[in-house]
Amino acid sequence: MRTSNVFSALYATLRFSLTSALTISQINGHKYLSPYNGQDVTAVKGLVTAKGPSGFWIRSTTLDLDYRSSNSIYVFGSGALKNVTVGDIITLDGTVSEYRSSAAYVYLTEIISPKNIALVSSGNKITPIVIGEWLLKWPPTEQFSSLDNWDVFSLPNNRSQLSVANPSLQPLIYGMDFWESMSGELVTVKKPKAVAKPNSFRDTWVTGSWRVSGRNKRGGLTSTNRDSNPEAILIGDPLDGTDNPKDTKLGDVLEQVTGVVTQAFGYYRILPTTALKVTGSASPETPPVTSFVPSGDCSKLTVGSYNVENLTPKSTYLPSIAKHIVEYLKSPNLMFLQEIQDNNGATNNGVVDSNLTLSTLVESIRNQSGVSYAFTSINPVNNQDGGQPGGNIRVAYLYNPSVLRLRKLNPGSSTDANEVLPGPELKFNPGRIDPLNTAAWTASRKPLAAAWETLDGKNKFFTVNVHFGSKGGSSSIEGDARPPVNGGIEDRMVQANVTASFISQILAQDRNARIISSGDFNEFAFVSPMETFKKVSKLQDLDEVTGILPVERYSYLFDMNCQELDHMFVSRALAKSAEFEHVHVNTWATSAGQISDHDPSVARFNVCEK
Ligand SMILES: *[C@@H]1O[C@H](CO)[C@@H](O)[C@H](O)[C@H]1NC(C)=O
Ligand SMILES: *[C@@H]1O[C@H](CO)[C@@H](O)[C@H](O)[C@H]1NC(C)=O
Ligand SMILES: *[C@@H]1O[C@H](CO)[C@@H](O)[C@H](O)[C@H]1NC(C)=O
Ligand SMILES: *[C@@H]1O[C@H](CO)[C@@H](O)[C@H](O)[C@H]1NC(C)=O
Ligand SMILES: *[C@@H]1O[C@H](CO)[C@@H](O)[C@H](O)[C@H]1NC(C)=O
Repeated sequence: MRTSNVFSALYATLRFSLTSALTISQINGHKYLSPYNGQDVTAVKGLVTAKGPSGFWIRSTTLDLDYRSSNSIYVFGSGALKNVTVGDIITLDGTVSEYRSSAAYVYLTEIISPKNIALVSSGNKITPIVIGEWLLKWPPTEQFSSLDNWDVFSLPNNRSQLSVANPSLQPLIYGMDFWESMSGELVTVKKPKAVAKPNSFRDTWVTGSWRVSGRNKRGGLTSTNRDSNPEAILIGDPLDGTDNPKDTKLGDVLEQVTGVVTQAFGYYRILPTTALKVTGSASPETPPVTSFVPSGDCSKLTVGSYNVENLTPKSTYLPSIAKHIVEYLKSPNLMFLQEIQDNNGATNNGVVDSNLTLSTLVESIRNQSGVSYAFTSINPVNNQDGGQPGGNIRVAYLYNPSVLRLRKLNPGSSTDANEVLPGPELKFNPGRIDPLNTAAWTASRKPLAAAWETLDGKNKFFTVNVHFGSKGGSSSIEGDARPPVNGGIEDRMVQANVTASFISQILAQDRNARIISSGDFNEFAFVSPMETFKKVSKLQDLDEVTGILPVERYSYLFDMNCQELDHMFVSRALAKSAEFEHVHVNTWATSAGQISDHDPSVARFNVCEK
């Protein structure tokens, strides 16, 4: 009898301690969602490690060495801020809650409605966890989550959600799991380096002293096949009310950062105790100018490509675009341009002509270099090609008429579908590809196919200038939907197929046809629309042909990644002699200093007939 009484007493104590004094690690659990979500907890004990404008962070005084669960948690409630000082060990009661400000985001586990805060001791020492050193775990460098099928860009998108599947954390394999397992922790990032420029909230992505993959020569991280760099972490709003700098650049070296790990607005982030400080920058400040000097000789034809971001005749940055073309690209014989707006820009009044936009650019180039380009493009049907309403963006070509001309000039109308005729020749030169195909081109730019020759009437080659549908509607790479939604991918699949089929018809007539297709494909080389494009067109990716290292293939910055939305593809006949360079005039600049959101590229080819 007696033994049994002792047993019940022990049992009661055990039960009491389980429900009344959970450790923070138990509250967090080792999944995305707390096993105690919605439940009241009492006498939770922790050391106050940091305070923010609306709450504070506590770390358990009995550390759990399970690498899957965090020992720290956020306590939300500005009313309780006056009751705590950093360095206090306290106990408190409250309610466990999962919070997110949008259904597209991952939840943050927190304690809300804190009550009965009792001081245990004050002035305790606080030691931030150095990322990469705690429990010998460091951020995984390739995969984001166990729900991505090993490819964050695989299809179908959003086949599951972290908030529903609630997988067990595997912080040694998946980057989001790693950051989730550090949620609420006060951490230090040693040797931080900026791998992006600040967004409009001045948040910047960084890497620290841990191992990374995908590092390019500038210091950024490049997205490559099945590796989109979850090891980078966003640095958000400083806790002390200071502001992060606006002019941080790719590759900048920063002062050591200490702050708390949290999840907000779709991303894991560290809220630093004070603003970031830049201590050094990569050099040279600006990229080298191209070594490809145009010669007017068919054996060394130079071809540039540039998305000029909604260029209008009145764009204040128009002379800077001209300067990039003149100084950095050395006025290529032929320029593929994307995002040329109509003559009055985004004024929605039915104007679709862009001859003033293009002639203003041509004049600015002429003023700066003496090269007098001719231009060609075809107007879209008003407001049918996407972009800013009334802006009527389209693709266009600038060409040096002392070297090149359109072969048998015969421009198509906005709605004329170009065709490949025997020869091969183009029915319309230039002409849009399948402009009435509504399955392909809902609110999107039609590719412009053209045939060219040197002024002696020889050395024919073809071009297709592309600006596929945008990634608008994508969900965050660290969001709830797994794999994340890659906005517009269904459209780009059809666009890639239609454009590539057209190109394949030229090659079907002449397997030695010289073809260049370039522009803003709004997709990465290793994602399905581009794989379809290559397979169907039989063109070759110039990055591969010329052996540019995968980490140096970038023309754009997004989130933590240097990435390549802009590509140049060529037929076999041009691949042999091809040379290619990406010119990082914009990705290397500050936010204020960038002229377009894309970098241009330039190539050199031998287009001479044998
Ligand atoms: C903060 O302290 C005040 C005054 O001692 C007390 O009334 C209040 O309940 C405390 N707040 C919390 C959240 O414990
Ligand atoms: C993902 O799918 C879920 C379930 O159908 C849906 O509620 C959610 O809105 C989708 N997320 C995105 C970003 O499309
Ligand atoms: C643009 O084209 C229109 C119609 O052909 C013509 O009247 C106008 O002069 C052109 N403007 C420029 C700047 O070339
Ligand atoms: C080109 O130079 C002329 C003469 O200086 C000037 O009037 C004109 O505005 C310049 N055009 C552009 C587009 O910069
Ligand atoms: C491309 O289009 C053709 C013709 O419409 C179709 O048969 C084929 O399945 C498409 N291929 C892909 C990969 O979408």
